[in-house]
Amino acid sequence: MRHLCVLLALLLSAPVLATTVAEVASPGGVLTVRVDIDGDGRPGYSVERNGKPVLLRSGLGLLLTDAPKLERHLAVSATATRSVDENWDQPWGEWRTIRNHYNELRLILAETVADHRQMALVFRVYDDGLGFRYEIPEQMHLKTVNIAEELTQFAFAEAGTAWWIPAFEWNREEYLYRTTPIAEVGTAQTPITFKLASGLHVALHEAALVDYAGMNVAKVDGSLFKAVLTPAGRGAKVVRDTPFVTPWRTLQIAPDAAGLYMSNLILNLNEPNTLGDVSWVRPQKYAGIWWGMHLDTQSWATGPKHGATTANALKAIDWAAANGLTGLLVEGWNKGWDGDWFANGSDFDFTHATPDFDLAKVTAYGRSRGVRLIGHHETAGNIANYEPQMGAGFDLYARYGVDAVKTGYVADAGGVKVQDADGSVHYAWHEGQAMAVHHLKVVTEAAKRHIAIDSHEPIKDTGLRRTYPNWVSREGARGMEYNAWGQPPNPPEHEAMLVFTRMLAGPMDFTPGIVSLVGRHGQPIQSTLAKQLALYVVLYSPIQMLPDLPENYAKYPQAFRFICDVPVDWADTKVLAGEVGDYAVIARADRHSDDWFLGAVGDEQPRSITVALAFLTPGKRYTAQIYRDGPGADWKTHPHAFATETRTVTSADSLTLVLAPGGGQAIRFKAEGGPLRP
Ligand code: NOJ
Ligand code: CA
Repeated sequence: MRHLCVLLALLLSAPVLATTVAEVASPGGVLTVRVDIDGDGRPGYSVERNGKPVLLRSGLGLLLTDAPKLERHLAVSATATRSVDENWDQPWGEWRTIRNHYNELRLILAETVADHRQMALVFRVYDDGLGFRYEIPEQMHLKTVNIAEELTQFAFAEAGTAWWIPAFEWNREEYLYRTTPIAEVGTAQTPITFKLASGLHVALHEAALVDYAGMNVAKVDGSLFKAVLTPAGRGAKVVRDTPFVTPWRTLQIAPDAAGLYMSNLILNLNEPNTLGDVSWVRPQKYAGIWWGMHLDTQSWATGPKHGATTANALKAIDWAAANGLTGLLVEGWNKGWDGDWFANGSDFDFTHATPDFDLAKVTAYGRSRGVRLIGHHETAGNIANYEPQMGAGFDLYARYGVDAVKTGYVADAGGVKVQDADGSVHYAWHEGQAMAVHHLKVVTEAAKRHIAIDSHEPIKDTGLRRTYPNWVSREGARGMEYNAWGQPPNPPEHEAMLVFTRMLAGPMDFTPGIVSLVGRHGQPIQSTLAKQLALYVVLYSPIQMLPDLPENYAKYPQAFRFICDVPVDWADTKVLAGEVGDYAVIARADRHSDDWFLGAVGDEQPRSITVALAFLTPGKRYTAQIYRDGPGADWKTHPHAFATETRTVTSADSLTLVLAPGGGQAIRFKAEGGPLRP
């Protein structure tokens, strides 16, 4: 009997061998994905790069709240493959034209038992990464799918380093990135970036988060991760009627950090533009009645410090117009900011101004000076209060020529208030299914009025700007505001970290350019002056603020020159150098001239980086207007040590960029007339 038990135990613990059922390689043969089914009928997948494992066998499936999970007893009932190689244009962006080149594998899996439920697995494999998703077709025994959890795994083949922020903590996505061994990751948000022991860089994220819960990843053991969906507040994490598709689970895979940024996987996996002509979406730089509130010298609430007064707005319009800006964000102009708006939001009124703000007068004056108001819809996460007013709020703005609105969802994690179909209000998460639905409601309602959206305290970016090009920017990480009042403020490595983590998701309204280099009550900003300029190039957004007070810009006219010159819309982008959290050097080509711009940011270490200027057009001469850290520059001791110089350069030259501790460098390569003479 004892022997029988031992034998049984051995049999049960033996791995259930998996058989490969399909395989697909990327167009250039760099990546290979293998799909298998084990002896229990459980599907799995593995990924190789140039024949070396990246992901070992990783499980797939869906756990349901009201039916057996969709994971075991599955068999392949059909497979199909196809290849796509196409180019598409971004109406605005980091690159004008993007190549979408992949091989696709689709498997239809059906249960071999009972209800014979079905699901499809679709893999799209590129040379620089892959995406896969579940598709649940219409079927007899699966009408409404109540998902408790995804059983998706990511079993990295190697140990290494991870850069990540924790999931489900109160401050949402506004955490400083941690650098840990992969084995020490807890539950993390995506994008999460890895450098495997072999040096390979991998970023895990998702694309096309539509009507579904956002995905986080939890470390199970060693280098094994599993998906953890954001809760719904109550009930199943995702509730969908068939047929439906899940978001794509994405892996960008590159030999170095630069390669991760250069990948367009996330955008490519999104559906094309559904809005048609979007020439009304205007990339632009804007001023704001904003930083004063963060410094606490002004207030959102009415009273003696109220920032959003007619007089302040008229003055700000003059300043914006004088400096070539076409937008002015005014926060606190509407009723609802008095009292305890924070995590309450029930008083926010989106159609009525405070008595000291004349919306008609401000917008009329702005029109006469070529400056449009940028609207603001702070909701404090109270969607139940906002949604019924949203349409009227956008209508009002549209009447006054407002073509961009910043939205805000200031509330702790799990503290968003949503209203169900039955009218009941309950708490939810910023990245749960209800908010995925809400954000697209905002974006599509805004689009009807030709209004662009910049979401703060947003749902994460999953590339939906391709489908809805009026979703121009968002926050979704610690921005400049943390340098005003953050404890601690952003450290010098923060932006070099963002480039290879948060920015892989898409544009960020970081609000660079605080040239005073001080926050609230004189708190020092951990940056040099030159670095503030570099941020406009390095941290991409089609709308960029000039947030500092006009009197501060007046003190640094040379630095201000670059901030006025730098464009926000690009024809091309190249990452020239970078290591996650250490430094990033990015060159971008202006969409509307032959000029190139370069931004370099470092961390707390002094650094010199030599870059070849091969990105410039061969045979053309450029005047490099260089804005760099001056002698002795150091964010701690001499943050304003700053120097400018000009040089004539061509694509055959190299430049050595010397970055101070906490420093950076910005360059405009101004294209000169005719070709270079020998
Ligand atoms: C947080 C946003 O990030 C900031 O830009 C805004 O000023 C405040 N919320 C108030 O809406
Ligand atoms: Ca560092």
